[in-house]
Amino acid sequence: MIVTSAQTAEKTSSFDEVQAITEMVHLSFSNCPNERMKFLFKHLIDHVHNFVRETSLTHEEWKASIDFLDRFRQEDRYIMIMSDIFGVSALVDLVNNDKPPNATEPAILGPLYTETTQILKKGDSIASEGKGDYLYMSGRILDVQGNPIAGAVMDVWEADKHGVYDKEYPNYNDKPDCRGRFTTGEDGSFAFRAVEPLAYPFNVGGPAEDLLDALGSVKYRPAHLHFKINAPNYKELITQLYLTGDQYLELDSAFAVRKSLIVDPKLITDTSLTLARGFKEEKPHVELERDFVLAKEEDLIKPKPKA
Ligand SMILES: [Fe+2]
Repeated sequence: MIVTSAQTAEKTSSFDEVQAITEMVHLSFSNCPNERMKFLFKHLIDHVHNFVRETSLTHEEWKASIDFLDRFRQEDRYIMIMSDIFGVSALVDLVNNDKPPNATEPAILGPLYTETTQILKKGDSIASEGKGDYLYMSGRILDVQGNPIAGAVMDVWEADKHGVYDKEYPNYNDKPDCRGRFTTGEDGSFAFRAVEPLAYPFNVGGPAEDLLDALGSVKYRPAHLHFKINAPNYKELITQLYLTGDQYLELDSAFAVRKSLIVDPKLITDTSLTLARGFKEEKPHVELERDFVLAKEEDLIKPKPKA
């Protein structure tokens, strides 16, 4: 087809219109009473529109994206997984790293946290027998001055020896396993029995799995334990601990590993201690010792939010 100069001019003018759409969308938000929300959406629209312009996104690709997002919408966890595998969750942690240096670094929540858990007391096991090799963990919840925090509520959750979380099993029925909630006493200490975490293929399933396959992405998470800690007057801490020597520390599909969160497990061969700690079988176990440091609002080093 021969393109005439008139058609070229038309094309230029329609390109100008393409640019103008962005401004028109910004204008359509001008009555938004929330300045921060207006600011966020202005930038979001700028980036999304630039993406469409820069890639010349086709109708087919646009429709495929909408269909894909629709599949994600069918289960909340897929949206969280997408945020994780695109590094958005980890980036939000990093740009909000406003805690003093001695406060424990955060790491992503992940898609498998649940409010439904086992309420346990110090020394109890979060895992039922047979879920993996034994692990014993202890530590304290402290403030940035090193004082113990009493009444801190700590949620812990992990995958079992198959790399699967309780709620991923079809027969889950709200029966938590490999997860528990502890409350610290006056000395801020905690201790629990668990299973040794293992690196596992990012067991995502559904549309997230299809996306990772299509992108040829590494689908492993290094061995880790999840923690969510809350105490009155302190900022919530959501974090993970990783084990030294894990081959996937630098290949984490969720980009969540931080140096300060890598811990050194100790092998306990004194099997009488295994029994004394409440494990059922007399065999060696792995021990982890780690404190968590929570910050208060006034401890934060916070730049003014952009608006
Ligand atoms: Fe996890």
